[in-house]
Amino acid sequence: MNDETRPTAERPVAKPGPIKPLGKVVAVTSGKGGVGKTFVSANLAAALAKRGQKVLVLDADLGLANLDVVLNLYPKITLHDVFTGKAKLEEAIVRAPGGFSVLLAGSGMVEYSRLTPTVRQDFLHIMSGLLPHYDIVLLDTGAGISDVVLFAVSLASEVLVVATPEPTSLTDAYATIKVLVGEQQRRTIRMVINQTARMGDGRAITTQLQQVLDRFVVAKPGEKVRLIHMGDIPADTAVRQAVMRRQLLILSTPGCPAALAVSQLAGKIEDTLINKPL
Ligand SMILES: Nc1ncnc2c1ncn2[C@@H]1O[C@H](COP(=O)(O)OP(=O)(O)OP(=O)(O)O)[C@@H](O)[C@H]1O
Ligand SMILES: [Mg+2]
Repeated sequence: MNDETRPTAERPVAKPGPIKPLGKVVAVTSGKGGVGKTFVSANLAAALAKRGQKVLVLDADLGLANLDVVLNLYPKITLHDVFTGKAKLEEAIVRAPGGFSVLLAGSGMVEYSRLTPTVRQDFLHIMSGLLPHYDIVLLDTGAGISDVVLFAVSLASEVLVVATPEPTSLTDAYATIKVLVGEQQRRTIRMVINQTARMGDGRAITTQLQQVLDRFVVAKPGEKVRLIHMGDIPADTAVRQAVMRRQLLILSTPGCPAALAVSQLAGKIEDTLINKPL
């Protein structure tokens, strides 16, 4: 990291303004918690890495994403040390088993969840310093519409909402999308339906959500909010087994239905978001 991107106590703090989302950054978010954001982020990263992409996953849940647990990584240096000036950004980036890079927040980052203008600016500096080194950056965010989640999503040029077919997950996904439309002027939201029971469930659910949005969420006169169905991931017992073993599904059981679905999702992300300029 050069001096410009290094967060220091002395650097003057600019007034917080609207954030211009960064290209090549995809926020993986959800309305309801526990729907599979971290599972999708980590395995999608591995599937994209398999395809030759340079991928970074950032714990944008400020230490609560549990990426460390899922990936069995316990680095000594985390984003927290970069923020406090104890380490360089490069030192905090670790290599995950799936051949991608990970930036873990570290437990100390929770204290930054107050999101002062300094924290926001430092985050933005760190993110823009990282971007040139990767084909895609995935932000594993928290669930819901708290300040921290919305800030993390605001950094990204693309939003991938993970939802399950459960009614509670869908109403929460709807609430999140509504806020992203209103507060971040999002007009395109990408959907992944996780833990589906049957083929085609996710597309039907996305269509239903789209109909509700068309009726009740008006962006601006003449403007439509568009949901893009990126894929479904079936409910699969192999997922829990991989989590229990702290392994990536893509590596431990590449042929299981959920792993195949994640690989397909990676192909679609590659075609639509990486190979096409954002
Ligand atoms: N396709 C699937 N099939 C079966 N189980 C799944 C699937 N996806 C996720 N799970 C289960 O759901 C659990 C929670 O997933 P995960 O931790 O990725 O959710 P999350 O959205 O990141 O949660 P949080 O909101 O707490 O960050 C996993 O540990 C796994 O056991
Ligand atoms: Mg998570």
